[in-house]
Amino acid sequence: MAGQIQTKNIKVGIIGGTGLENSNLLDSNYTEHDIDTPYGKPSAPLIEGILNGVPCVLLVRHGKKHDISPTNVNYRANLWAMKKLGVNVILATNASGSLNEEIRPGSFVFFDDYIDRTNKRQTTFYDGFVGHPHGVCHIPMYPAFSESLRKILAESAQDLGFEYHKKGIIICIEGPHYSSRAESNAYQLLNASIINMTICPEVMLAKELGMLYAGVALVTDYDCWKDNDKHVSVDLVAQTMVVNSEKSIKLFVRAIEKIKESSALLLDDIRAAKIVARNSVMID
Ligand code: ADE
Repeated sequence: MAGQIQTKNIKVGIIGGTGLENSNLLDSNYTEHDIDTPYGKPSAPLIEGILNGVPCVLLVRHGKKHDISPTNVNYRANLWAMKKLGVNVILATNASGSLNEEIRPGSFVFFDDYIDRTNKRQTTFYDGFVGHPHGVCHIPMYPAFSESLRKILAESAQDLGFEYHKKGIIICIEGPHYSSRAESNAYQLLNASIINMTICPEVMLAKELGMLYAGVALVTDYDCWKDNDKHVSVDLVAQTMVVNSEKSIKLFVRAIEKIKESSALLLDDIRAAKIVARNSVMID
């Protein structure tokens, strides 16, 4: 129809923490889905509704009571449940520490690559178990994050006057402890810009499902490498998140408007991502 924007077939999944348990983000008519998957239960019921005319699904990664540790998050069930509801675009928020003087607490980073330092997580749906997808999946991880979504996020932050960095490398550690100073310094030598505990394996699993995925890092601290600043602690992360979660909600609202405007381009990207996912599975 003339003048009307096509959003057909785009459904956005938002995976995050503080602020997202509040379904006020969506129009009043939302549905809660208690979903089961071949990998078990997701972190919480998924909330489906409309935001700015775009179908969206919200999920709190650490559970409603924030009692699931980064290691114990059922990333596979979370992503599978999103897919089951028809989600094809994921925006994920992550509280992150900064490893770079110029990346200040309170700013956003729309990172373009990652280093995986986790060691206790299931990183593939294709694990050979009965009832799971058949074959072995060797999915390419470059580019790791959707370029189109990163651009949309950066433009949204620019529109809103937020401090942001449009690229950077995120290093994902297993946790639950924060890093030692020697580790923090070593990650700086690896050229990592920010550090967190949840981006992996979410990004790999989204790729295996042919979804577009981009992360929104909200910088909460300078980890522990800097002498003249407070070192990372639960209190520091929580304080910065409280002040800044409003900002991430505003960012999402703006980004969703832009997703609506760019739906034709994103649908092309989704088609390409699905082909890559399909062609990466080796079956005898
Ligand atoms: N999340 C927030 N700050 C962090 C840090 N410094 N290290 C790991 N995860 C974090």
